[in-house]
Amino acid sequence: MNFELKTLSLAAAAKSSTDTLIVLISESFQAGKDPLSELIDKATKAKDFSAKAGKSLQAYAIAGVGAAKIVLVGVAQGKPADVKSAVAGAMAGLKSAETAKTLIVFAGAASADTLQAAVLAVAEGTYVYGTTLSTPKARKLTQVTLGVASANQAMKDTFAASVAMVQGIEFAKEWANRPANHATPTLLGKAAQGLAKSAGFSCEVLGPKEVAKLGMGSFMSVAKGSAEPLRFIVLKYQGATKSDAPVVLVGKGITFDTGGISIKPAAEMDEMKFDMGGAASVLGVFKSLTVLKPKINVVGLIPACENMPDGLAVKPGDVVTSMSGQTIEILNTDAEGRLILCDALTYAERFKPKAVIDIATLTGACVIALGAIRSGMFATEDDLAEALLKAGNEAMDLCWRMPLDDDYADALKSNFADVANVGGRAGGAITAAKFLHRFAKKYPWAHLDIAGTAWKGGAAKGATGRPVGLLLQYLLSQQIAGKK
Ligand code: BES
Ligand code: MN
Ligand code: ZN
Repeated sequence: MNFELKTLSLAAAAKSSTDTLIVLISESFQAGKDPLSELIDKATKAKDFSAKAGKSLQAYAIAGVGAAKIVLVGVAQGKPADVKSAVAGAMAGLKSAETAKTLIVFAGAASADTLQAAVLAVAEGTYVYGTTLSTPKARKLTQVTLGVASANQAMKDTFAASVAMVQGIEFAKEWANRPANHATPTLLGKAAQGLAKSAGFSCEVLGPKEVAKLGMGSFMSVAKGSAEPLRFIVLKYQGATKSDAPVVLVGKGITFDTGGISIKPAAEMDEMKFDMGGAASVLGVFKSLTVLKPKINVVGLIPACENMPDGLAVKPGDVVTSMSGQTIEILNTDAEGRLILCDALTYAERFKPKAVIDIATLTGACVIALGAIRSGMFATEDDLAEALLKAGNEAMDLCWRMPLDDDYADALKSNFADVANVGGRAGGAITAAKFLHRFAKKYPWAHLDIAGTAWKGGAAKGATGRPVGLLLQYLLSQQIAGKK
């Protein structure tokens, strides 16, 4: 799908030849003398349309309008959230139609934020997964033009960033949606290498031998029950000078989580193929970086393996030694995400990072706490927390800060090791974060628990591509901060 931004008056938009013309009308819209203004005016007077959010009207073959189909959509005051839901609604209408080309024109003021909202909503509304279908349905929409009365540099930059963001989101969706037998640790490693090769950044994929040499005993203990060999993926994007400290992104890459010996119930276990959503989001961010080429340094780390029950699998009560030297009593083999992340967090130290952000479908408790709207965000520094919260708001990929009080770590005490891998049920998202915190003492650190936001269940089952938007927005804000 190709996006372009054009400066267009409503009169010019009317003349454009396109399959479908979507007109976003805000309450402050002043009708002119062009054919579209006249249509809006007539429909409003007839009370068939208003600029209220959620209102829409379709029309066909209007004199003086090039498009076969016209959709008028109300966007109320034209806030990003209104534009997003208006465009999403219009896209739902297009899904079954034969629309290859669409022009979305803002009747009323547009801004950088509303442009971004429109681009994201078009992509979201028309995404189709097809990789493992015998006859995949292709996305019909191939050309999307956004028309605005005028575009300043900020709008042009944001537009370019949004288009790159969409490519990252869709890359993440693709890998997260793939069934576990089509997205093994080996295949994830190959996907990372393919991305690196096409874009010219560096990628190293370590296997069991190298990981053993590094002393990642915690990560290795999770992979032990699986016939699929583990992979540790290291991606390096260098857009700034070498001496510039990188941001390190660490993505949980459990390609399937059965729970291991502490096995999960059968219902909805298929959804545990999405347990590499954090890893997919790291790959997605790298996809976006290669499109946008911002002047920042970013390292991506992905520990990838399956969590399976087996004769060789790690057992409840086993004690393992992490790369940091800390010993861990594994009381529940289903709390495996933290076991693979802790070694990656130790590995991250070598990059002397500006910040480390891990992204993980870590706890069911986070789903209970925040549902599917906001990801859980934990941070050791206030400025990092604020930057992530702001980035989430801007990218409409929300998060919410959760606490890291040391008292929460009491739940992780063990009689047989330095730390246990689980606390009780109380504050489960926080005790998981406190476990990780022990391994993230050497740099500013944030943890995003995306268990509730990385995918949707039910009839709309599928990956969301979150939090690629939040992460990319954060990284781009770092680029601007670095310029000063
Ligand atoms: N991948 C799961 C977390 C998860 C569960 C995400 C449900 C989305 C929906 C994780 O590995 C896990 O199993 N966590 C356990 C931890 C518990 C054993 C302390 C959980 O949340 O139940
Ligand atoms: Mn688990
Ligand atoms: Zn898991």
